[in-house]
Amino acid sequence: MQINTIILAAGKGTRMRSDLPKVMHKIAGKPLLQHAYDMVKQLPNNRISIVVGHGAELVKRDLHFFDAIWVEQLQQLGTGHAVQQAAGQIGDDDTVLILYGDVPLLKLATVQQLVADASQQSLALLTVNLDDPSGYGRIVRDANGLVRKIVEQKDATAAEKEIAEVNTGILAVYGAQLKQWLMQLGNNNAQGEYYLTDIIEMAVADGVAIKTSQPATSSEVLGVNNRIQLSQLERVYQQEQAQLLMEQGVSLADPNRFDLRGTISQLGQDIEIDINVILEGQISIGNNVKIGANSQIKNSVIGDHVEILANCVIEDAVVGQGSRIGPFARLRPETVLGHHVHIGNFVEIKKASVAENSKINHLSYVGDATIGSNVNIGAGTITCNYDGVNKFRTVIEDGAFIGSDTQLVAPVTVGKNATIGAGSTITKDTPADQLTLSRVKQLSIAGWQRPVKKEK
Ligand code: UD1
Ligand code: CA
Repeated sequence: MQINTIILAAGKGTRMRSDLPKVMHKIAGKPLLQHAYDMVKQLPNNRISIVVGHGAELVKRDLHFFDAIWVEQLQQLGTGHAVQQAAGQIGDDDTVLILYGDVPLLKLATVQQLVADASQQSLALLTVNLDDPSGYGRIVRDANGLVRKIVEQKDATAAEKEIAEVNTGILAVYGAQLKQWLMQLGNNNAQGEYYLTDIIEMAVADGVAIKTSQPATSSEVLGVNNRIQLSQLERVYQQEQAQLLMEQGVSLADPNRFDLRGTISQLGQDIEIDINVILEGQISIGNNVKIGANSQIKNSVIGDHVEILANCVIEDAVVGQGSRIGPFARLRPETVLGHHVHIGNFVEIKKASVAENSKINHLSYVGDATIGSNVNIGAGTITCNYDGVNKFRTVIEDGAFIGSDTQLVAPVTVGKNATIGAGSTITKDTPADQLTLSRVKQLSIAGWQRPVKKEK
Protein backbone atom coordinates (compact mmCIF):
# COMPACT_ATOMS: atom_id res chain seq x y z
CA MET A 1 0.00 0.00 0.00
CA GLN A 2 1.24 3.46 -0.92
CA ILE A 3 0.74 6.11 1.76
CA ASN A 4 0.66 9.79 0.91
CA THR A 5 1.08 11.95 3.99
CA ILE A 6 0.13 15.60 3.76
CA ILE A 7 1.32 17.76 6.66
CA LEU A 8 -0.46 21.11 6.96
CA ALA A 9 1.97 23.79 8.07
CA ALA A 10 1.02 27.02 6.33
CA GLY A 11 -0.64 28.79 9.27
CA LYS A 12 0.87 31.93 10.74
CA GLY A 13 0.59 31.26 14.43
CA THR A 14 -0.29 34.86 15.30
CA ARG A 15 -0.58 34.07 18.99
CA MET A 16 3.04 32.96 19.18
CA ARG A 17 3.93 36.66 18.69
CA SER A 18 7.06 35.68 16.85
CA ASP A 19 8.99 36.35 13.65
CA LEU A 20 9.57 32.62 13.43
CA PRO A 21 6.89 30.55 11.62
CA LYS A 22 4.98 28.62 14.27
CA VAL A 23 6.09 25.17 13.11
CA MET A 24 9.76 26.18 13.59
CA HIS A 25 9.31 26.73 17.33
CA LYS A 26 10.93 23.89 19.20
CA ILE A 27 10.10 21.14 21.61
CA ALA A 28 13.12 19.35 23.05
CA GLY A 29 15.35 21.35 20.73
CA LYS A 30 13.55 20.14 17.59
CA PRO A 31 11.08 22.12 15.44
CA LEU A 32 7.41 21.18 15.87
CA LEU A 33 7.19 20.25 12.19
CA GLN A 34 10.15 17.90 12.52
CA HIS A 35 8.42 16.02 15.33
CA ALA A 36 5.50 15.27 13.01
CA TYR A 37 7.86 14.46 10.14
CA ASP A 38 10.19 12.15 12.12
CA MET A 39 7.22 10.22 13.48
CA VAL A 40 5.45 9.71 10.15
CA LYS A 41 8.72 9.03 8.29
CA GLN A 42 8.75 5.67 10.04
CA LEU A 43 5.79 4.45 7.98
CA PRO A 44 6.95 2.36 5.00
CA ASN A 45 5.95 3.29 1.42
CA ASN A 46 5.16 6.80 2.49
CA ARG A 47 5.46 9.86 0.27
CA ILE A 48 5.34 13.04 2.35
CA SER A 49 4.05 16.43 1.14
CA ILE A 50 4.27 19.47 3.38
CA VAL A 51 2.03 22.48 2.78
CA VAL A 52 3.86 25.65 3.77
CA GLY A 53 2.80 29.29 3.57
CA HIS A 54 3.86 31.74 6.25
CA GLY A 55 7.65 31.80 6.37
CA ALA A 56 7.80 29.12 3.67
CA GLU A 57 11.32 30.06 2.56
CA LEU A 58 12.70 29.84 6.08
CA VAL A 59 10.97 26.54 6.80
CA LYS A 60 12.25 24.98 3.56
CA ARG A 61 15.78 26.25 4.14
CA ASP A 62 16.06 25.08 7.75
CA LEU A 63 14.48 21.71 7.02
CA HIS A 64 16.10 21.19 3.59
CA PHE A 65 17.19 17.70 4.65
CA PHE A 66 13.59 16.44 4.77
CA ASP A 67 12.77 13.79 2.20
CA ALA A 68 9.49 15.52 1.35
CA ILE A 69 7.71 17.46 -1.39
CA TRP A 70 7.23 21.11 -0.43
CA VAL A 71 3.92 22.56 -1.56
CA GLU A 72 3.15 26.26 -1.22
CA GLN A 73 -0.18 27.66 -0.15
CA LEU A 74 0.11 31.36 -0.96
CA GLN A 75 -3.06 32.39 0.88
CA GLN A 76 -4.40 30.55 3.90
CA LEU A 77 -7.97 29.96 2.77
CA GLY A 78 -8.64 26.99 5.03
CA THR A 79 -7.61 23.41 5.72
CA GLY A 80 -9.49 22.14 2.64
CA HIS A 81 -7.73 24.69 0.44
CA ALA A 82 -4.39 23.64 1.98
CA VAL A 83 -4.96 19.99 1.06
CA GLN A 84 -6.09 21.03 -2.46
CA GLN A 85 -2.59 22.46 -3.03
CA ALA A 86 -1.12 18.98 -2.54
CA ALA A 87 -3.78 17.15 -4.58
CA GLY A 88 -1.41 16.79 -7.54
CA GLN A 89 0.71 14.40 -5.47
CA ILE A 90 -2.15 12.06 -4.62
CA GLY A 91 -2.45 8.75 -6.49
CA ASP A 92 -5.90 7.20 -6.88
CA ASP A 93 -5.00 4.12 -4.83
CA ASP A 94 -2.99 5.99 -2.19
CA THR A 95 -4.07 6.10 1.39
CA VAL A 96 -3.83 9.79 2.21
CA LEU A 97 -2.92 10.67 5.79
CA ILE A 98 -3.53 14.25 6.90
CA LEU A 99 -1.41 15.61 9.78
CA TYR A 100 -0.84 19.06 11.29
CA GLY A 101 2.67 20.51 11.58
CA ASP A 102 1.86 22.11 14.93
CA VAL A 103 0.78 18.86 16.64
CA PRO A 104 4.11 17.40 17.78
CA LEU A 105 3.30 14.54 20.18
CA LEU A 106 1.25 12.29 17.90
CA LYS A 107 2.35 8.66 18.15
CA LEU A 108 3.20 6.26 15.33
CA ALA A 109 0.78 3.62 16.69
CA THR A 110 -2.08 6.12 16.40
CA VAL A 111 -1.44 6.93 12.74
CA GLN A 112 -0.83 3.24 11.95
CA GLN A 113 -4.33 2.56 13.24
CA LEU A 114 -5.79 5.30 11.01
CA VAL A 115 -3.97 4.02 7.94
CA ALA A 116 -5.18 0.49 8.67
CA ASP A 117 -8.78 1.73 9.08
CA ALA A 118 -8.89 3.67 5.79
CA SER A 119 -10.11 2.04 2.60
CA GLN A 120 -12.48 2.62 -0.30
CA GLN A 121 -15.26 1.63 2.10
CA SER A 122 -14.24 3.74 5.09
CA LEU A 123 -12.66 7.04 6.06
CA ALA A 124 -10.62 6.92 9.31
CA LEU A 125 -11.04 9.88 11.62
CA LEU A 126 -9.17 10.59 14.84
CA THR A 127 -11.40 12.17 17.49
CA VAL A 128 -11.06 12.96 21.15
CA ASN A 129 -13.47 13.81 23.97
CA LEU A 130 -12.68 17.06 25.73
CA ASP A 131 -14.05 18.56 28.96
CA ASP A 132 -13.89 21.91 27.21
CA PRO A 133 -14.52 21.38 23.49
CA SER A 134 -14.81 25.08 22.64
CA GLY A 135 -12.98 26.18 19.51
CA TYR A 136 -12.92 22.72 17.94
CA GLY A 137 -15.01 21.15 15.22
CA ARG A 138 -17.69 18.91 16.78
CA ILE A 139 -18.41 15.34 15.70
CA VAL A 140 -22.12 15.09 14.92
CA ARG A 141 -23.52 11.54 15.18
CA ASP A 142 -26.98 10.20 14.37
CA ALA A 143 -29.30 8.19 16.64
CA ASN A 144 -27.36 5.03 15.77
CA GLY A 145 -24.09 6.62 16.80
CA LEU A 146 -22.85 6.92 13.21
CA VAL A 147 -20.86 10.03 12.29
CA ARG A 148 -22.88 12.32 10.00
CA LYS A 149 -20.68 15.40 9.74
CA ILE A 150 -18.28 17.76 11.46
CA VAL A 151 -19.50 21.20 12.35
CA GLU A 152 -17.07 24.00 13.17
CA GLN A 153 -17.51 25.99 16.40
CA LYS A 154 -18.51 29.12 14.51
CA ASP A 155 -21.15 27.28 12.46
CA ALA A 156 -22.52 25.15 15.30
CA THR A 157 -25.98 25.38 16.83
CA ALA A 158 -26.29 25.70 20.61
CA ALA A 159 -27.07 21.97 20.82
CA GLU A 160 -24.05 21.05 18.67
CA LYS A 161 -21.80 23.16 20.88
CA GLU A 162 -22.69 20.78 23.75
CA ILE A 163 -20.96 17.88 21.94
CA ALA A 164 -17.76 16.90 23.75
CA GLU A 165 -16.35 14.75 20.96
CA VAL A 166 -14.15 16.89 18.72
CA ASN A 167 -12.25 16.63 15.46
CA THR A 168 -8.48 16.40 15.90
CA GLY A 169 -8.04 17.25 12.21
CA ILE A 170 -6.06 14.05 11.69
CA LEU A 171 -7.54 11.51 9.31
CA ALA A 172 -6.80 8.91 6.65
CA VAL A 173 -8.77 8.59 3.43
CA TYR A 174 -8.72 6.78 0.07
CA GLY A 175 -6.93 8.89 -2.58
CA ALA A 176 -9.42 8.90 -5.48
CA GLN A 177 -12.30 9.73 -3.13
CA LEU A 178 -10.43 12.57 -1.44
CA LYS A 179 -9.54 14.15 -4.79
CA GLN A 180 -13.18 13.99 -5.90
CA TRP A 181 -14.47 15.53 -2.64
CA LEU A 182 -11.79 18.25 -2.66
CA MET A 183 -13.15 19.47 -6.01
CA GLN A 184 -16.60 19.93 -4.46
CA LEU A 185 -15.52 22.04 -1.46
CA GLY A 186 -17.10 25.46 -1.09
CA ASN A 187 -16.54 28.28 1.35
CA ASN A 188 -20.11 29.16 2.20
CA ASN A 189 -19.70 29.12 5.98
CA ALA A 190 -19.19 31.45 8.94
CA GLN A 191 -15.47 31.89 8.24
CA GLY A 192 -15.59 31.94 4.44
CA GLU A 193 -12.96 29.17 4.44
CA TYR A 194 -12.60 25.94 2.51
CA TYR A 195 -13.09 23.42 5.32
CA LEU A 196 -11.48 20.02 4.91
CA THR A 197 -14.04 18.84 7.46
CA ASP A 198 -16.80 19.15 4.85
CA ILE A 199 -15.53 15.94 3.22
CA ILE A 200 -17.11 13.97 6.08
CA GLU A 201 -20.64 14.84 5.00
CA MET A 202 -19.70 14.05 1.37
CA ALA A 203 -18.30 10.67 2.40
CA VAL A 204 -21.51 9.84 4.27
CA ALA A 205 -23.57 10.86 1.20
CA ASP A 206 -21.42 8.55 -0.97
CA GLY A 207 -21.99 5.61 1.38
CA VAL A 208 -18.45 5.64 2.81
CA ALA A 209 -18.40 4.71 6.49
CA ILE A 210 -16.68 7.03 8.99
CA LYS A 211 -14.53 4.94 11.31
CA THR A 212 -13.37 6.86 14.38
CA SER A 213 -10.52 6.04 16.72
CA GLN A 214 -8.99 7.82 19.70
CA PRO A 215 -5.37 8.40 20.69
CA ALA A 216 -4.02 6.67 23.83
CA THR A 217 -3.83 10.06 25.58
CA SER A 218 -5.32 13.40 24.56
CA SER A 219 -1.89 15.10 24.74
CA GLU A 220 -1.03 13.29 21.49
CA VAL A 221 -3.38 15.54 19.54
CA LEU A 222 -2.75 18.83 21.33
CA GLY A 223 -1.62 21.62 19.05
CA VAL A 224 0.56 24.61 19.80
CA ASN A 225 -1.04 28.02 19.39
CA ASN A 226 0.89 30.07 21.95
CA ARG A 227 4.00 29.85 24.11
CA ILE A 228 2.08 28.61 27.12
CA GLN A 229 0.94 25.54 25.18
CA LEU A 230 4.47 25.15 23.82
CA SER A 231 5.86 24.95 27.36
CA GLN A 232 3.12 22.55 28.45
CA LEU A 233 3.84 20.16 25.58
CA GLU A 234 7.57 20.41 26.29
CA ARG A 235 6.88 19.14 29.84
CA VAL A 236 4.63 16.33 28.59
CA TYR A 237 7.34 15.30 26.14
CA GLN A 238 10.10 15.43 28.77
CA GLN A 239 8.06 13.43 31.29
CA GLU A 240 7.50 10.75 28.66
CA GLN A 241 11.22 10.56 27.98
CA ALA A 242 12.09 10.49 31.68
CA GLN A 243 9.63 7.63 32.12
CA LEU A 244 11.21 5.66 29.26
CA LEU A 245 14.70 6.12 30.72
CA MET A 246 13.61 5.04 34.19
CA GLU A 247 11.97 1.96 32.67
CA GLN A 248 15.33 1.16 31.10
CA GLY A 249 17.13 1.28 34.44
CA VAL A 250 18.20 4.90 34.80
CA SER A 251 17.75 6.61 38.18
CA LEU A 252 16.59 10.19 37.86
CA ALA A 253 16.80 12.24 41.06
CA ASP A 254 13.76 14.17 39.81
CA PRO A 255 12.05 13.30 36.51
CA ASN A 256 10.58 16.82 36.47
CA ARG A 257 14.05 18.31 36.36
CA PHE A 258 15.57 16.35 33.50
CA ASP A 259 15.69 17.29 29.82
CA LEU A 260 16.65 15.20 26.83
CA ARG A 261 16.96 17.24 23.64
CA GLY A 262 18.05 14.54 21.29
CA THR A 263 18.49 10.79 21.36
CA ILE A 264 20.41 8.31 23.44
CA SER A 265 21.91 5.81 21.03
CA GLN A 266 23.33 3.54 23.71
CA LEU A 267 22.32 3.31 27.32
CA GLY A 268 23.99 1.22 30.03
CA GLN A 269 22.59 0.10 33.34
CA ASP A 270 22.75 1.69 36.78
CA ILE A 271 23.06 5.23 35.54
CA GLU A 272 22.35 7.90 38.15
CA ILE A 273 21.36 11.34 36.98
CA ASP A 274 21.03 14.19 39.46
CA ILE A 275 18.72 17.18 39.05
CA ASN A 276 18.78 19.72 36.19
CA VAL A 277 20.84 17.62 33.81
CA ILE A 278 20.42 18.38 30.08
CA LEU A 279 21.38 15.77 27.49
CA GLU A 280 21.52 17.07 23.92
CA GLY A 281 22.08 15.66 20.44
CA GLN A 282 23.44 12.11 20.13
CA ILE A 283 24.46 10.65 23.46
CA SER A 284 25.89 7.31 24.48
CA ILE A 285 26.23 6.40 28.17
CA GLY A 286 27.88 3.24 29.53
CA ASN A 287 27.18 1.25 32.70
CA ASN A 288 27.46 2.61 36.24
CA VAL A 289 27.73 6.24 35.23
CA LYS A 290 26.94 9.10 37.61
CA ILE A 291 26.05 12.53 36.28
CA GLY A 292 26.03 15.39 38.76
CA ALA A 293 23.54 18.23 39.11
CA ASN A 294 23.35 20.99 36.48
CA SER A 295 25.55 19.25 33.95
CA GLN A 296 25.00 19.68 30.23
CA ILE A 297 26.21 16.96 27.88
CA LYS A 298 25.94 17.24 24.10
CA ASN A 299 26.92 14.81 21.30
CA SER A 300 29.25 12.80 23.53
CA VAL A 301 30.20 9.28 24.45
CA ILE A 302 30.47 8.55 28.17
CA GLY A 303 32.21 5.26 29.07
CA ASP A 304 31.49 2.78 31.87
CA HIS A 305 32.06 3.82 35.50
CA VAL A 306 32.49 7.47 34.63
CA GLU A 307 31.65 10.03 37.28
CA ILE A 308 30.70 13.50 36.15
CA LEU A 309 30.44 15.82 39.13
CA ALA A 310 28.13 18.85 39.30
CA ASN A 311 28.12 21.76 36.85
CA CYS A 312 30.09 20.31 33.95
CA VAL A 313 29.61 21.28 30.29
CA ILE A 314 30.64 18.55 27.85
CA GLU A 315 30.33 18.81 24.06
CA ASP A 316 31.51 16.57 21.20
CA ALA A 317 33.72 14.64 23.58
CA VAL A 318 34.62 11.06 24.40
CA VAL A 319 35.10 10.28 28.09
CA GLY A 320 36.93 7.00 28.69
CA GLN A 321 35.97 4.32 31.16
CA GLY A 322 36.51 5.10 34.85
CA SER A 323 37.26 8.79 34.30
CA ARG A 324 36.20 11.48 36.76
CA ILE A 325 35.18 14.91 35.51
CA GLY A 326 34.49 18.13 37.43
CA PRO A 327 32.93 19.74 39.32
CA PHE A 328 32.88 22.80 37.04
CA ALA A 329 34.84 21.28 34.15
CA ARG A 330 34.37 22.09 30.48
CA LEU A 331 35.14 19.57 27.76
CA ARG A 332 34.92 21.28 24.38
CA PRO A 333 34.68 19.68 20.91
CA GLU A 334 37.21 17.02 19.94
CA THR A 335 38.21 16.15 23.47
CA VAL A 336 39.10 12.47 23.74
CA LEU A 337 39.86 11.13 27.21
CA GLY A 338 41.31 7.65 27.76
CA HIS A 339 40.58 5.37 30.71
CA HIS A 340 40.80 6.67 34.29
CA VAL A 341 41.54 10.28 33.40
CA HIS A 342 40.85 12.93 36.03
CA ILE A 343 39.70 16.37 34.94
CA GLY A 344 39.08 18.67 37.89
CA ASN A 345 37.47 22.00 38.66
CA PHE A 346 37.81 24.96 36.31
CA VAL A 347 39.67 22.95 33.71
CA GLU A 348 38.93 23.53 30.01
CA ILE A 349 39.95 20.99 27.40
CA LYS A 350 39.61 21.56 23.65
CA LYS A 351 40.71 19.51 20.62
CA ALA A 352 42.95 17.41 22.82
CA SER A 353 43.50 13.77 23.59
CA VAL A 354 44.47 12.72 27.10
CA ALA A 355 45.66 9.11 27.50
CA GLU A 356 44.95 6.80 30.43
CA ASN A 357 45.62 7.66 34.07
CA SER A 358 46.54 11.27 33.36
CA LYS A 359 45.36 14.03 35.66
CA ILE A 360 44.55 17.67 35.04
CA ASN A 361 42.95 18.56 38.31
CA HIS A 362 42.80 22.32 38.76
CA LEU A 363 42.37 25.59 36.83
CA SER A 364 44.02 24.69 33.53
CA TYR A 365 43.52 25.25 29.80
CA VAL A 366 44.61 22.43 27.51
CA GLY A 367 43.85 23.07 23.84
CA ASP A 368 45.22 21.60 20.59
CA ALA A 369 47.23 19.08 22.56
CA THR A 370 48.23 15.44 22.70
CA ILE A 371 48.74 14.30 26.27
CA GLY A 372 50.26 10.87 26.95
CA SER A 373 49.45 8.44 29.75
CA ASN A 374 50.31 8.93 33.43
CA VAL A 375 50.89 12.63 32.91
CA ASN A 376 50.27 15.01 35.80
CA ILE A 377 49.43 18.57 34.87
CA GLY A 378 49.66 20.94 37.83
CA ALA A 379 47.26 23.72 38.76
CA GLY A 380 47.07 26.73 36.47
CA THR A 381 48.85 25.18 33.48
CA ILE A 382 48.10 26.79 30.13
CA THR A 383 48.81 25.63 26.60
CA CYS A 384 49.46 28.85 24.69
CA ASN A 385 48.11 27.49 21.40
CA TYR A 386 47.29 30.68 19.55
CA ASP A 387 49.50 33.50 18.29
CA GLY A 388 46.54 35.60 17.23
CA VAL A 389 46.51 34.08 13.74
CA ASN A 390 47.47 30.40 13.84
CA LYS A 391 46.89 27.51 16.23
CA PHE A 392 49.76 25.23 17.25
CA ARG A 393 49.91 21.88 19.02
CA THR A 394 51.40 20.95 22.35
CA VAL A 395 52.62 17.38 22.87
CA ILE A 396 53.23 16.03 26.36
CA GLU A 397 54.66 12.53 26.35
CA ASP A 398 53.95 9.69 28.79
CA GLY A 399 54.82 10.13 32.44
CA ALA A 400 55.66 13.84 32.25
CA PHE A 401 55.05 16.07 35.27
CA ILE A 402 54.11 19.68 34.60
CA GLY A 403 54.60 21.96 37.61
CA SER A 404 51.91 24.43 38.56
CA ASP A 405 51.48 27.71 36.69
CA THR A 406 53.39 26.57 33.62
CA GLN A 407 52.83 28.11 30.20
CA LEU A 408 53.55 25.80 27.29
CA VAL A 409 54.06 27.99 24.21
CA ALA A 410 53.14 25.83 21.23
CA PRO A 411 54.39 24.28 19.06
CA VAL A 412 56.26 22.48 21.80
CA THR A 413 56.92 18.92 22.98
CA VAL A 414 57.59 17.84 26.54
CA GLY A 415 59.57 14.57 26.44
CA LYS A 416 58.76 11.31 28.18
CA ASN A 417 59.02 11.43 31.99
CA ALA A 418 60.24 15.01 31.83
CA THR A 419 59.57 17.31 34.77
CA ILE A 420 58.78 21.00 34.33
CA GLY A 421 59.40 23.25 37.33
CA ALA A 422 56.52 25.31 38.60
CA GLY A 423 56.07 28.78 37.10
CA SER A 424 57.99 28.01 33.90
CA THR A 425 57.35 29.46 30.46
CA ILE A 426 58.34 26.66 28.08
CA THR A 427 59.12 27.84 24.54
CA LYS A 428 61.39 25.02 23.32
CA ASP A 429 61.05 21.22 23.36
CA THR A 430 62.14 19.76 26.69
CA PRO A 431 64.22 16.57 26.86
CA ALA A 432 62.91 13.31 28.30
CA ASP A 433 63.66 12.38 31.91
CA GLN A 434 65.17 15.79 32.81
CA LEU A 435 63.99 18.70 34.91
CA THR A 436 63.43 21.83 32.87
CA LEU A 437 62.56 25.17 34.40
CA SER A 438 62.64 28.73 33.16
CA ARG A 439 62.06 30.49 36.41
CA VAL A 440 63.96 33.61 37.58
CA LYS A 441 66.25 32.61 40.47
CA GLN A 442 64.84 33.55 43.87
CA LEU A 443 66.91 36.08 45.81
CA SER A 444 66.63 37.71 49.23
CA ILE A 445 68.01 41.14 50.16
CA ALA A 446 69.38 41.36 53.66
CA GLY A 447 68.69 44.56 55.63
CA TRP A 448 65.97 45.74 53.20
CA GLN A 449 63.49 48.15 54.78
CA ARG A 450 59.83 48.56 53.87
CA PRO A 451 58.98 52.17 52.98
CA VAL A 452 57.01 54.01 55.70
CA LYS A 453 54.53 56.90 55.39
CA LYS A 454 56.06 60.30 56.20
CA GLU A 455 54.23 62.44 58.84
CA LYS A 456 52.92 65.71 57.27
C1 UD1 B 1 -9.28 22.66 12.44
C2 UD1 B 1 -10.54 21.89 12.08
C3 UD1 B 1 -11.33 21.58 13.35
C4 UD1 B 1 -10.48 20.86 14.36
C5 UD1 B 1 -9.19 21.63 14.61
C6 UD1 B 1 -8.25 20.82 15.48
C7 UD1 B 1 -11.17 22.59 9.86
C8 UD1 B 1 -12.10 23.44 9.06
N1 UD1 B 1 -11.32 22.65 11.17
O1 UD1 B 1 -9.65 23.87 13.04
O2 UD1 B 1 -12.47 20.82 13.04
O3 UD1 B 1 -11.20 20.68 15.57
O4 UD1 B 1 -8.50 21.91 13.38
O5 UD1 B 1 -7.18 21.62 15.86
O6 UD1 B 1 -10.39 21.85 9.30
N2 UD1 B 1 -3.59 25.35 7.90
C9 UD1 B 1 -2.99 25.57 6.67
N3 UD1 B 1 -3.59 26.36 5.76
C10 UD1 B 1 -4.78 26.98 6.00
C11 UD1 B 1 -5.41 26.74 7.25
C12 UD1 B 1 -4.79 25.93 8.19
O7 UD1 B 1 -1.90 25.04 6.41
O8 UD1 B 1 -5.26 27.68 5.11
C13 UD1 B 1 -2.94 24.48 8.88
C14 UD1 B 1 -2.51 25.23 10.12
O9 UD1 B 1 -1.19 25.71 9.99
C15 UD1 B 1 -2.63 24.16 11.19
C16 UD1 B 1 -3.75 23.28 10.69
O10 UD1 B 1 -3.85 23.51 9.32
O11 UD1 B 1 -1.48 23.39 11.30
C17 UD1 B 1 -5.06 23.56 11.37
O12 UD1 B 1 -5.40 24.90 11.20
P1 UD1 B 1 -6.12 25.71 12.35
O13 UD1 B 1 -6.47 27.05 11.83
O14 UD1 B 1 -5.38 25.60 13.61
O15 UD1 B 1 -7.44 24.82 12.56
P2 UD1 B 1 -8.94 25.27 12.64
O16 UD1 B 1 -9.42 25.67 11.28
O17 UD1 B 1 -9.10 26.18 13.76
CA1 CA C 1 -5.72 25.06 15.80
